[in-house]
Amino acid sequence: MTQFLTSTPRHQLERDVILSDSTAVQLQECLAKLRFHKTIYKDWNFESVDPMGLCTVLNFYGPPGTGKTMTAEAVAGQLGMQFLSLGISELESKFLGDTAKNIRAAFDTAREEQAVLFFDEADTLLGKRLSSVTQGVDNEVNAMRSTLLIELERFDGVVIFATNFERNYDSAFRSRISYHIHFDLPDQAARQRLLERLLVPAIPLAAERGALLAHLAELTDGFSGRELRTCMRLALPKALLAAEQGGSAPALAARHLEEAVAEVRKAMAEVGAPVTPAHLDHSTNTARRMLGVA
Ligand SMILES: Nc1ncnc2c1ncn2[C@@H]1O[C@H](COP(=O)(O)OP(=O)(O)O)[C@@H](O)[C@H]1O
Ligand SMILES: [Mg+2]
Repeated sequence: MTQFLTSTPRHQLERDVILSDSTAVQLQECLAKLRFHKTIYKDWNFESVDPMGLCTVLNFYGPPGTGKTMTAEAVAGQLGMQFLSLGISELESKFLGDTAKNIRAAFDTAREEQAVLFFDEADTLLGKRLSSVTQGVDNEVNAMRSTLLIELERFDGVVIFATNFERNYDSAFRSRISYHIHFDLPDQAARQRLLERLLVPAIPLAAERGALLAHLAELTDGFSGRELRTCMRLALPKALLAAEQGGSAPALAARHLEEAVAEVRKAMAEVGAPVTPAHLDHSTNTARRMLGVA
């Protein structure tokens, strides 16, 4: 059986996470309710009539790189809790049957350590249960999903799911989720704030800071927070390389950033395939793969 480790959250909501207004409002509302949770369910004994409401389930959905994973960790921090993050690789097992066992163990650990339980790429776990069960492995996928449903009913903490494929969720899971929070791609103002954070003060600049940020925010329509970070990762060595070759002091200039933006855009066009009908089978195929039969 896998041993699960909790961690102390590194990200802070106010300091690190930049969200669009609509996402921020939904999240704040949800956090406010979580603060009152103990009063309502324990002190006022609302659990006697709503035992399933004890477990608060959040679902973060939206395009990749929009801060879902980072926000989950920050929410744990905001609640003063530990963080237990599980991806496919933590749950997968070479041996049939162990995935369900691992899920139970994860809930036990979260209970003992007062941790927010986070399932990344949750569409694989929360996909539709298969009705035409032809192979043992499909039974196994169903068993894993049933275990998760049972554990959600027994748990009295906070569970967060994140996914880029929310349409694959089974309705049994969808109805167990208290808050569905959509993460948008950042608009121009949000991109500027994200870039402001990424352009840390020690980076020497060849142009006026405000103008550089505004220019870059304008150029990066359609970019996620992660893609903005990639732009910076690509641009910074360009500045150093140019300085080395020219024998001058390094300074980040607009052209380094423009080149980086073009490179990221090219990769987005060529590498990231758009969502196609094939993705509808994504969760089940991934589930089969993680169980070792694909
Ligand atoms: N909303 C955001 N606020 C701040 N940083 C962000 C945001 N979105 C993305 N990032 C940056 O991109 C990285 C990857 O984001 P991540 O949380 O893994 O996205 P997701 O889980 O939605 O795919 C973060 O660690 C952060 O550096
Ligand atoms: Mg993520």
